[in-house]
Amino acid sequence: MALEDESYDRVVPRLIPGYSSLARLGVALLAASPLASAPGSSVLVAGCGSGAELLEARAQRPDWCLTGLDPSAAMLQLAQRRLGDTAAIQWRQGTVEGLDANGSFDGALAVLVLQALPDDGSKLAFLSALAKGLRPGGQLVLVDLMQPERSPLQQQLRQARLGFQRASGLAAAATTAAELTPVPQTVTDQTVTALTTGLYPIGLSRLAALVAAAGFGDPAPVFQALDVEGFLLQRRA
Ligand SMILES: C[S@@+](CC[C@H](N)C(=O)[O-])C[C@H]1O[C@@H](n2cnc3c(N)ncnc32)[C@H](O)[C@@H]1O
Repeated sequence: MALEDESYDRVVPRLIPGYSSLARLGVALLAASPLASAPGSSVLVAGCGSGAELLEARAQRPDWCLTGLDPSAAMLQLAQRRLGDTAAIQWRQGTVEGLDANGSFDGALAVLVLQALPDDGSKLAFLSALAKGLRPGGQLVLVDLMQPERSPLQQQLRQARLGFQRASGLAAAATTAAELTPVPQTVTDQTVTALTTGLYPIGLSRLAALVAAAGFGDPAPVFQALDVEGFLLQRRA
């Protein structure tokens, strides 16, 4: 997903049910984890985008040593503008896969990032790099668009997501996310297209296999709003 302007923050809560709670929940979960609960813990926000999780982490845990990582210079700039106090955060432009951080983080968050990587080795490389970056026992909060595996509900979930988007002001919600024709006075076609195309959601059994291969234990479900799901993963010792 490539979306690199201020419209991201206006559009994403209207597209993704529960988005406005994700950063707060994710940070609260990590703050209660065995390693990152310690004062001064080192925490990675992978795919920090425009800075929602960083902002929340600064509010809940001003003692954390935060790293904000994103390959997009434009997104990093948005985050830096939003955070203001940029000196307190280590900013890194690049991908998780390119991060050379051997077990240096006590915790990490990756919210709506894995979904944009194809399942051709790219998802595994991303998860493996996150596991490698964490200390043994360190936890990752992973939130992603999932492929529902309960087939009788699949159609209903999709309809409900489109209904949510329509009710949130994306009036021309079509039958598939990729067909979404945005509406709006304030929202550009480009913005919604960037947020709804090029996504590769996977089911829970595939995610469990990938995280095991990457070096994590079983994913513990911690959040679900329709087909957006959150998991807590712990790096194996
Ligand atoms: C949908 S945005 C989510 C941003 C933020 N986490 C949020 O919840 O609003 C996904 C972000 O992941 C970044 N990204 C994509 N591939 C990445 C990778 N391999 N490693 C780190 N970040 C990546 C993108 O540049 C983008 O800013």
